[in-house]
Amino acid sequence: MPNIVVVGTQWGDEGKGKVVDLVCPAFDVVARFQGGHNAGHTVRFGEHHFSLRLIPSGILHQEVQCVLGNGMVVSPEALLGELGELAQAEVETRGRLWISDRATVLLPTHVALDQARERARGAAAIGTTSRGIGPAYESKAARYGLRMVDLAADDLEERLAAWLEVVRPQLDALGGAADPEAVDAGALAGRCREWGERLGPMLRGTEMLFDTWLREGRSILFEGAQGALLDLDHGTFPYVTSSSATAGGAATGTGVAPTRIDATLGILKAYTTRVGGGPFTTELEDETGEFLRKRGNEFGTVTGRPRRCGWLDLVAARYAQALNGTDGLALTKLDVLDDLPELRVCTGYRVAGEVLAEFPADRAALAAAEPVYRSFPGWRAKTAGVLSWDELPVPARDYVSFIEDQLETPVVFLSTGPRREETLIRRDLPAFTALTGGRL
Ligand code: IMP
Repeated sequence: MPNIVVVGTQWGDEGKGKVVDLVCPAFDVVARFQGGHNAGHTVRFGEHHFSLRLIPSGILHQEVQCVLGNGMVVSPEALLGELGELAQAEVETRGRLWISDRATVLLPTHVALDQARERARGAAAIGTTSRGIGPAYESKAARYGLRMVDLAADDLEERLAAWLEVVRPQLDALGGAADPEAVDAGALAGRCREWGERLGPMLRGTEMLFDTWLREGRSILFEGAQGALLDLDHGTFPYVTSSSATAGGAATGTGVAPTRIDATLGILKAYTTRVGGGPFTTELEDETGEFLRKRGNEFGTVTGRPRRCGWLDLVAARYAQALNGTDGLALTKLDVLDDLPELRVCTGYRVAGEVLAEFPADRAALAAAEPVYRSFPGWRAKTAGVLSWDELPVPARDYVSFIEDQLETPVVFLSTGPRREETLIRRDLPAFTALTGGRL
């Protein structure tokens, strides 16, 4: 059985949650490797709807083990909230959910810092999810951050006090923290100890747990959050998240060696969306953009913010393909395009009279880039629930084939609606076997 990474290839919200939920019965373990409760998806389970932000949706499949890897920033408060929701619905998590003892603890202080910095940036705000993600990663890189194992440390209060000495003046300069506990070492240490007691049984040296599982021949699905263009190193900096959202992050964020990872499944939405600030070359600020937002229900699951919408951008997608080495794609939300008379796909960026085929690093070039479009006729027919390639309207097949040709990657899963059943699976493609071991 292969070990695979599932990653977003745009700016997040590509529909990873549905695809992971669909493929995870073929795997023994589902592991998150980056991000925190800035990610989010709603999962249906019987009568219940869960908003899972930290815990992989694999938790709803009883046979699957779930891990929060060392590369994550974990808010114990948010995690306990999710565990409470699962307990209420009688989902058994004991013995199935493991948290890396090396994962970074996200504290209320990080939330206060995130909010204060965004306020101070004014018009240049990144448009973060206000969950403290950036400041938590910053504490880790600055080597002040607490790891989950530290929740039970004897010198917790002194460590927090030393860190607050550094952070408090910054917060004060930005208008202070609304929550007084966020800057009180004693209060924070008390909460940490309480969290440590409740989460202690789930903490593990997950690197060696993965090693054991791999030796036993168990298969792992690494579940990415956000998307390639929000990756700290490769994304549209500084309008990015603070973690490694590309396939490489799966190795550093779990401690599983890259040589043990076999393939990557990239999730690509049939059009593009983005939440928060930053460049977006194919953005549509007209009625077509509004149509995509309404029809695609493009509102954030974590913050409720309306998402910016636009045409599919193959310049960005080719870049994401290179970063992730994608072996197969899940093309999602094709049905949202069903009623459009004409579709466009961006194949190049025009900057200062020159057409670029590569995604530029320079902020000014990205901001100035004008999309070069290729136009496609719409199919104006219902694709929702179509389960075989031959039954797809011909213009829809042409649209998908063009994407495959341009990215030199097969579309293995074609999602045409939110439900599991609304997925066309191309079992005949070799990439399907490479990604699932043929076990679906
Ligand atoms: P942060 O991750 O909260 O620091 O936010 C940084 C940027 O990443 C902002 O533009 C957010 O809107 C974006 N972002 C973070 N998480 C997600 C996500 O799960 N989906 C889409 N955008 C996200």
